[in-house]
Amino acid sequence: MSSQSAPLKNVLVTGGAGYIGSHIIYCLQKTRNYKVISIDNSYNSKSEALNRVSRLSKSELPANPTDRDLESTEIDAFKADLTQPDQVRAVFEKYGKGGIWGVIHIAALKAVGESTEIPLEYYYTNVAATISLLRTMNDFDCHRIVYSSSATVYGTPPIIPIPESTRLQADSPYGRTKIMGETILSDLCYSDKKWRALSLRYFNPAGAHPSGLIGEDPRGRPGNLLPLLAHMAVGRVDNKSLKVFGNDYPTPDGTCVRDYLHILDLAKGHVLALDALSPESKVFPSDSESFFKGYNLGKGKGVSVLQIIEAMRKATGFDYQYEIIGRRRGDVPDLTADPSLAEKELGFSAPQDLEAMCRDLWNWQTKNPNGYDVEEEPKKSS
Ligand SMILES: NC(=O)c1ccc[n+]([C@@H]2O[C@H](COP(=O)([O-])OP(=O)(O)OC[C@H]3O[C@@H](n4cnc5c(N)ncnc54)[C@H](O)[C@@H]3O)[C@@H](O)[C@H]2O)c1
Repeated sequence: MSSQSAPLKNVLVTGGAGYIGSHIIYCLQKTRNYKVISIDNSYNSKSEALNRVSRLSKSELPANPTDRDLESTEIDAFKADLTQPDQVRAVFEKYGKGGIWGVIHIAALKAVGESTEIPLEYYYTNVAATISLLRTMNDFDCHRIVYSSSATVYGTPPIIPIPESTRLQADSPYGRTKIMGETILSDLCYSDKKWRALSLRYFNPAGAHPSGLIGEDPRGRPGNLLPLLAHMAVGRVDNKSLKVFGNDYPTPDGTCVRDYLHILDLAKGHVLALDALSPESKVFPSDSESFFKGYNLGKGKGVSVLQIIEAMRKATGFDYQYEIIGRRRGDVPDLTADPSLAEKELGFSAPQDLEAMCRDLWNWQTKNPNGYDVEEEPKKSS
């Protein structure tokens, strides 16, 4: 049976309506091999994101789409909370045992600073709910999972660019929840080879789909630099409030260096990771001790805070005012990935440059100055 006539594989994406989730769903739909099920509790997202993804995917269908093509652009969207096991179980029950081929587990709380203030919420959502999800997966014979990890698992890394072999040692409760998530998956895969898990350590995703239909729409003031700069240029945040934390780091211009990659390059990495969970994939030789691996998803190129501000100035034409203040506790001078393992084993690449990221971010922000700007409940679309 050719892949075009095989039934679509059901993939559950947790946190599917969020920034990264919506772009991953778009990339999954583009393959026409998957039917996406999304679980999100709308804590940091709006269901309009999923409507837009479907719209975008439908607009890219061939002139005479098959029923299968059409089905691949639908999303079964459920408003459910991962911290409520019954709600997740109810979703799995709809598809039955073996009905969900794999899971991309993205849903999490993600603000480093906030995690130091409300650590229990972070451990509950990011760790306890992950355990509960894995138990439910097991009950329904679903043993393939791609996990959203983060560069923060490296804490202050001794080697730049950072290889995956670096000891994991995070500096915040958020980072520790990600190490715990990876540890749980690793232990699970060692305990039983029916489990296959890939952990993807994201560096700094940025930008938006070039259509401007989907993008990042954080609740409240953005915690990350690029969306903050976009909000400033569009007038959602006061221009006087930009603070640069420290310019005396051992980096070329003294400000912190991060590894930015285009959101669509990151999202494509998830399709590759999902493919690598197939039994025919060469990522896991059959004599492997376990089927668990972690990969860096980054560009492998560091960019400083001042370079980011300059790139956004070029993209937006906006005159950013900033103030250099002292170092912020917990900031690390340089977090640049060594992505060569993911390139070699998954076929991953992040070709898009900073200019493209800023251009697409600005396109999204100007077309959607108030984000998705609609309040409605997610509904099952099929
Ligand atoms: N954005 C980044 O810079 C970055 C970097 C490294 C890692 N990550 C990780 O990537 C993942 C996604 O990040 P994002 O930027 O898309 O964040 P996001 O907040 O846009 O997406 C997370 C989604 O999960 C949902 N969610 C949260 N708690 C939930 C719960 N209990 N039940 C159901 N849904 C819930 C939110 O509503 C949101 O839609 C997270 O795991 C994050 O830790 C993000």
